[in-house]
Amino acid sequence: MDRGRKLAGLGFLAGFGGTLVLIALVGLAVVYTGAYNIAATEEHASVTRWAFDTTFRNSVESRAPDLVPPDEFTDSMIAAGATLYKASCQHCHAGPGVGRAEWASGMRPQPPHLTEAAAEWDLPEIFWLARHGAKMTGMPAFGPTHDDATLWNVAAFVKRLPAMEPETYARLGEAQNGDGGGHQHGEAEGGHAR
Ligand code: HEC
Repeated sequence: MDRGRKLAGLGFLAGFGGTLVLIALVGLAVVYTGAYNIAATEEHASVTRWAFDTTFRNSVESRAPDLVPPDEFTDSMIAAGATLYKASCQHCHAGPGVGRAEWASGMRPQPPHLTEAAAEWDLPEIFWLARHGAKMTGMPAFGPTHDDATLWNVAAFVKRLPAMEPETYARLGEAQNGDGGGHQHGEAEGGHAR
């Protein structure tokens, strides 16, 4: 009786261990055989996309809440945020009345238009994303090259994008191409590249 139980236990362990080994082998096979297509010309499968988006959102939401923004943002802080946005974010994320650069549409995942997407994030979350970036998305970390004050300014500017008229957007900050409109795609890569 006792022995029977022991044997059943051992059998279960062997089956469990075997399954784990099998999963590991399948994983290794995917890594080594090239079975997974990394091409950015392919859309992500919907399950990959779901796992990606959910991880992305929960990761940012669990890390950002302790960050405390400045008490207020003056017009000149917002204008400084606009200048950085037009130099370093617009070519991927577009803006009111301005499209993203043509090449950014070839990215997977595609960088969202922040004029819409910014409404779904609160200020500390946008700051966190600008400071730390996001692995495996192409979203760069600006923390290594910009101080926190600068990044709060750009986050505050981004937070205002959903309610911003194209004329206001064009007027704010230092534009890259004289008239500030940036009507043609891709112009933001001009002189201010870092
Ligand atoms: C090279 C292209 C690129 C640049 C430059 C870039 N981003 Fe991003 N950004 C991305 C990508 C790609 C994502 C992730 C999209 C996804 O996974 O859905 C992203 C995501 C974000 C998000 C989250 C939006 C969402 O709903 O997914 C915010 C906020 C953001 N970026 C802010 C910024 C700011 C602010 C700057 C400039 C300081 C910036 N980004 C510069 C490519 C870029």
